[in-house]
Amino acid sequence: MTVKVGLLGLGTVGIGTAKILLDPAERHPLVKAVEIYRVGVRSLDKPRAIELPRDRLTTDLQAIVTDPNVDVVVELIGGLEPARSLILEAIRQGKHVVTANKAVIARYGDEIFTAANEAGVYVLLEAAVGGGIPVIQPLKQALGVNRIQAVTGIVNGTTNYILTRMQEEGGDFEAILADAQKLGYAEADPTADVDGLDAADKIAILASLAFGGRIKLEDVFCEGIRHVSASDIAYADRLGFVIKLLAIARRDTCPMSNEALEQLQLRVHPTLVPKHHPLASVNDVYNAILVEGDPIGQVMFFGPGAGEGPTASAVVSDILNIVGTLQSQSVAAASEPQNPLLACTHQHY
Ligand code: NDP
Ligand code: HSE
Repeated sequence: MTVKVGLLGLGTVGIGTAKILLDPAERHPLVKAVEIYRVGVRSLDKPRAIELPRDRLTTDLQAIVTDPNVDVVVELIGGLEPARSLILEAIRQGKHVVTANKAVIARYGDEIFTAANEAGVYVLLEAAVGGGIPVIQPLKQALGVNRIQAVTGIVNGTTNYILTRMQEEGGDFEAILADAQKLGYAEADPTADVDGLDAADKIAILASLAFGGRIKLEDVFCEGIRHVSASDIAYADRLGFVIKLLAIARRDTCPMSNEALEQLQLRVHPTLVPKHHPLASVNDVYNAILVEGDPIGQVMFFGPGAGEGPTASAVVSDILNIVGTLQSQSVAAASEPQNPLLACTHQHY
């Protein structure tokens, strides 16, 4: 059985995804079952670091999401629109969706997952938080029995890369940001990285998973790294700290109440992290997400938080989860249990 993918976007992550799917040797056997059927881009003439037959490329993304031959739509164009509308249309058409788009999920997750529930399709988003780090599925599944107390992370590769280089070389902010853009780490509009908005989207998604319910972005306090200077970093260093952009979601009791009312702290800001703390040694484009829960205690996810290959690894893992489920559904009787990795997908993200 071949599963046909409609790939929306052939930029940094789209190219990484296509490279894996076009080179199945010595990878998971299910990679061979995936065909890149159509690819949607903005410009047909742009030179690309990948060879694809010209007739597979189109600028008509609507035609891809409504094409009856497409089984899975992989949204890698980024931004809010047309990404949101294309995802919703794909769902309406009964297609499964994989996306790396944290901005859309953080704002329209409710709408998207409600539509997916109604249509009975999967929407998977492993690449949306932590780049190549598997953290979405583990939070949903393997850690699902825990009562989570806090999720604290370095979840933006671009700002961690900038802060690390400022720490190591005291370099110029704008020049280092330009390098992060060249390396494919930054968002199309890098203010989303620098001002902490990308990290806010990600902690809103993680908090929704960890604590359940809907997290509104307006409830996340957000301050980026624009005002962190080389001398701030040097002073912090002398005092035994490094400066990291942390994204924090923490259960807390409300100090304004006599009753033990619980509240959720949600914040993104530059933070003085003691040099001996595990998050202090997370450098360059690497991300780490520290989860504290009962009964697990502390568990930390660590790995490359952005870039072509790592992010594509997460995208393809989602595609393969869907392919595995579709194959088991087609081979086995209807009573066959579903792939447990997907079991919670409809409930919330
Ligand atoms: P890029 O800007 O590199 O690529 C975007 C692609 O989408 C391009 O191929 C572009 O076409 C196409 N595109 C954009 N808008 C349209 C449109 N309106 N119509 C048709 N095609 C369009 O982005 P990335 O690959 O870096 O990011 C993609 C997504 O992945 C984003 O949601 C991002 O947040 C997320 N992500 C990115 C990571 C990274 O490390 N880069 C890591 C984790 C998530 P064309 O090439 O013709 O211009
Ligand atoms: N711009 C994002 C970052 C991409 O730097 O972390 C990964 O989500």
